[in-house]
Amino acid sequence: MEGNIIPHTYQVKQKDRSNSNQHKPLLVWFTGLSGSGKSTIANLVEKKLFEKNIKTYTLDGDNIRKGINSDLSFSPQDRTENIRRIAEVSKLMIDAGLVVLAAFVSPYKKDRDNIRTVVKDVNFVEIYVNTSVEECERRDVKGLYKKARSGEIKNMTGVSAPYEAPDCPDIEIETEKESIEGSANRIVDYITPKLKLNNE
Ligand code: ADX
Repeated sequence: MEGNIIPHTYQVKQKDRSNSNQHKPLLVWFTGLSGSGKSTIANLVEKKLFEKNIKTYTLDGDNIRKGINSDLSFSPQDRTENIRRIAEVSKLMIDAGLVVLAAFVSPYKKDRDNIRTVVKDVNFVEIYVNTSVEECERRDVKGLYKKARSGEIKNMTGVSAPYEAPDCPDIEIETEKESIEGSANRIVDYITPKLKLNNE
């Protein structure tokens, strides 16, 4: 079946879109426990990039798990499939020329490594939002840790399911020591040179 899918040659290429946007595309991937602050930091990074005229889009549990991945649970297999599909969606968005901010627990190293393969290393930045489970549980913005402790929720990352921290993330944010503003600035400073076109 795959052998019969012959790609069409489009006249507008990724490079043309980058030239038109005046920046390269990128996938900025935020990993960390639920409630660690991934989406909050990603949102502020997006705002700062948007103000610099950079074409952005944010993917997170709200727009992905309620839509394209609404059929997936939190079992290990479904989490892997969740991340695989998000990597493929991100790949299309990169082709469209966007800077994609993706905030997902993504607890398994092998799944995060797979994203790197799907979108290509050069397009991928990994950010580890390192907040201890104790602090996430204290914040418990969504009330999920309480439910996990009472057994109402199974497979809760950090409580009854594993989280494999990155060994070598591009950036590590320690939210218990660093402000949201400071973290977002650090990320913007790190990715800005990566967005520059080669001919600049
Ligand atoms: S992932 O593990 O597959 O990457 P994803 O980031 O899409 O997870 O979704 C995590 C969000 O779903 C959490 O922020 C939390 O709001 C909610 N959630 C519901 N059940 C669980 C669970 N068992 N473990 C972790 N997060 C959960």
